[in-house]
Amino acid sequence: MNKLTITAVTTALLSFGIAGNAMADKHAFNDAESAVEYRQNALSIMRDNFAAMGDMVKGDVAFDAAIFQQRAEDFARLSHIPWAGFSVDGAMPGDNTDALPEIWDNWDDFKQRTVDFTADAEKLAEVAAGGSLDDIKPVFMAAAKNCKGCHDNYKD
Ligand code: HEC
Repeated sequence: MNKLTITAVTTALLSFGIAGNAMADKHAFNDAESAVEYRQNALSIMRDNFAAMGDMVKGDVAFDAAIFQQRAEDFARLSHIPWAGFSVDGAMPGDNTDALPEIWDNWDDFKQRTVDFTADAEKLAEVAAGGSLDDIKPVFMAAAKNCKGCHDNYKD
């Protein structure tokens, strides 16, 4: 690794640290299709974790605090991932996406929703660490509101 590469890597790491919010704008995608696939895959695996917690909240599956906590931690981490797949030019709606063009017309609102959502996901992980199901329920429901709110506006 030459000096220039080391500097570039350090700069990249530093700027990631500073700008490490919900919307990481610096991902590179080869084309719009790969951005769409990336965000859909990320949303799916995020949903799998949320649904597993939902089963316990609804009482369909017995509440297990350790499993819930693991799911909540994974969910909080995953809540940051999908949004980079919306940030590229050209990742506009097409046949393979349910994303609506309104996202890019209302970018600041969409971005704010991702920030609010990740904050709620992190609150859920916090309360899941040692919290009872009664403590967890309202925080889970608050996180769930983000899904519907955003889908109603920006998903086909
Ligand atoms: C900030 C907006 C936003 C939030 C918050 C959000 N979503 Fe979505 N979601 C979208 C959009 C837009 C799409 C369509 C993506 C596409 O098809 O390109 C989508 C698609 C999906 C998909 C389909 C992925 C696929 O395979 O096509 C699932 C599942 C999903 N969301 C689950 C959730 C769940 C569960 C939550 C809450 C825990 C959530 N989303 C929160 C905007 C959001």
